[in-house]
Amino acid sequence: MDQGNNEIRRIKKLIREDPELKGMLVRSGRNEIMLDLDGDGAADVCFSAENDGKTIDTLSFDLSGNGEFNLYLHDADGNGIPDAVFWAEDGDEEAELIAFGSEVEQGLVKLAARLDALMAADEFMTEEFGVSLADLASYLKEYADGILAEIDGRLNAEGIEKVYYFLNDAQTYYLATVDGDQPRVRPFGTVLLRDGKLYIQTGKVKEVSAQIRKNPHVELCAFMDGTWLRVAGELVNDDDRDVKLALLEKMPELKPMYSADDDNMQMLYFKNATATFSSFTQEPEVIHF
Ligand SMILES: Cc1cc2nc3c(=O)[nH]c(=O)nc-3n(C[C@H](O)[C@H](O)[C@H](O)COP(=O)(O)O)c2cc1C
Repeated sequence: MDQGNNEIRRIKKLIREDPELKGMLVRSGRNEIMLDLDGDGAADVCFSAENDGKTIDTLSFDLSGNGEFNLYLHDADGNGIPDAVFWAEDGDEEAELIAFGSEVEQGLVKLAARLDALMAADEFMTEEFGVSLADLASYLKEYADGILAEIDGRLNAEGIEKVYYFLNDAQTYYLATVDGDQPRVRPFGTVLLRDGKLYIQTGKVKEVSAQIRKNPHVELCAFMDGTWLRVAGELVNDDDRDVKLALLEKMPELKPMYSADDDNMQMLYFKNATATFSSFTQEPEVIHF
């Protein structure tokens, strides 16, 4: 007997026996089953058993609403709980690994348990049991949205970190401000990442500071190893003493010129920022933070 798709066969049987589920079936392959949960004609969820077929090892969801699967939950260790999250944008050749490991497993236990129930208990699907497929669909959507928000947060955190390390490693960047109808530009080197914010430092007595006070829109540019980074956005003043101390800690060479209590040292962080990494050989990478 073919052991290759036991689990898939069991789910197929479940689906065959349930008219509501049967109506949702979009594809019934040897190793995968796709269901259209919301009735829009496109598959929303895919169960697949690519390995030994004893367990469902990948669940894919279409959260884009356009028939493209973009969220993948993968059970790499075969314990029945997804432990890796992949995300693919439309047109991506390969899905990107977003999260992996026991933390994800913990976070997905609830979802896995619910799906387990779906697969294991026939009565789970029936009206008498009181759990409708529509409820399940909205539960899955809500849960997946939660994961997505977390993924978004992580991606953003990774993005701002990438900007920070580039500026840090480049050592010098050029900061442009607006002075009436005249652009001004000068070399800068201070950079700090704290509480998810990207800070730069200046002195309140400088013209650059006065220009930013009048018009907070700035752009900076740095170049390193064939790649240039531009960050355009607005700068916000932050007089938090701890932030000033953190920069002085990181760049002690500034201590002869500035102190956290001198009424001159100024920390500014980016808001509504767009960072663009460019090179002659690769597509630009854009990060918003
Ligand atoms: C490599 C380098 C890095 C610098 N980094 C900073 C900096 O992070 N913050 C700052 O206020 N000035 C920095 N300066 C000094 C400014 O470029 C200089 O004070 C400039 O004149 C300020 O602009 P402004 O004249 O429009 O006020 C740096 C200078 C150099 C050469």
